[in-house]
Amino acid sequence: MIKINENTKLVVLTGAGISAESGLKTFRDSDGLWENYPVTDVATPEAYQRNPAMVWRFYKERWKQARQAHPNPGHEALARLETWLGQNFSLITQNVDGLHTRAGNSRVIEMHGSLENALCLSCNSRSPMDSINLDPDIPACPKCGASLRPDIVWFGEMPYRMQEIDALLQACDVFMVVGTSGVVYPAAGFVMTASYLGAKTLAVNLEAGEMPHFVDEFHQGKAGEVLPRIVENWMEA
Ligand code: OAD
Ligand code: ZN
Repeated sequence: MIKINENTKLVVLTGAGISAESGLKTFRDSDGLWENYPVTDVATPEAYQRNPAMVWRFYKERWKQARQAHPNPGHEALARLETWLGQNFSLITQNVDGLHTRAGNSRVIEMHGSLENALCLSCNSRSPMDSINLDPDIPACPKCGASLRPDIVWFGEMPYRMQEIDALLQACDVFMVVGTSGVVYPAAGFVMTASYLGAKTLAVNLEAGEMPHFVDEFHQGKAGEVLPRIVENWMEA
């Protein structure tokens, strides 16, 4: 069993699986479909150009679902880790639901953006979703009136804060990956990179599947059950 203490630099990467127990569907659960459209058809810049109203409809709906959801014991365990480790803890998430922040984590990198904001196509300013009028099919920027888009990193776009992430992968002692299928790059490569750069690695997932050789320790189960146990073990040792 991998051990950590107050001086361990720990980086955690989460995916949709950690929010499953909060009632939010993972991409796999939904077979990658939304109202019979492949999710990739509403998650690209081309889709927005083709049909911005449909793309907005999808993200307004997801934002509503995320706001109704609550952090679960998996999120809460990661918040306790941050309280314990402070600056030695960093959380990278592919999720856009905002649940990590609501659980109390502040050292969070939302590499795929956030449902909580919209981005102006003209003046580039960010507006919180709850500050804008969502009635129009395509909401308008409160600052300049131009069209807004969801502040989500779509397929083909560069994830946010990659330089910071690189530095974290280089410096970390332990890298833990939770609830991600590991198919979407670059996030899927982080655990391998961290391992090659010398970190010990562990993975938490509901399904066993085939674990690559660069995962040192695998914990099968629900994140909301497994994470509190792991964190408790670490903090008691
Ligand atoms: P996926 O839906 O691809 O994978 C979810 C993973 O979580 C699977 O491996 C499940 O086995 C696992 N899982 C499900 N329930 C779980 C639970 N209760 N506890 C632990 N694990 C559980 O989601 P991601 O890997 O996050 O990108 O998907 C990556 C990216 O693909 C997303 O960020 C999104 C999507 O397209 C963008 O939106 C840019
Ligand atoms: Zn604007």
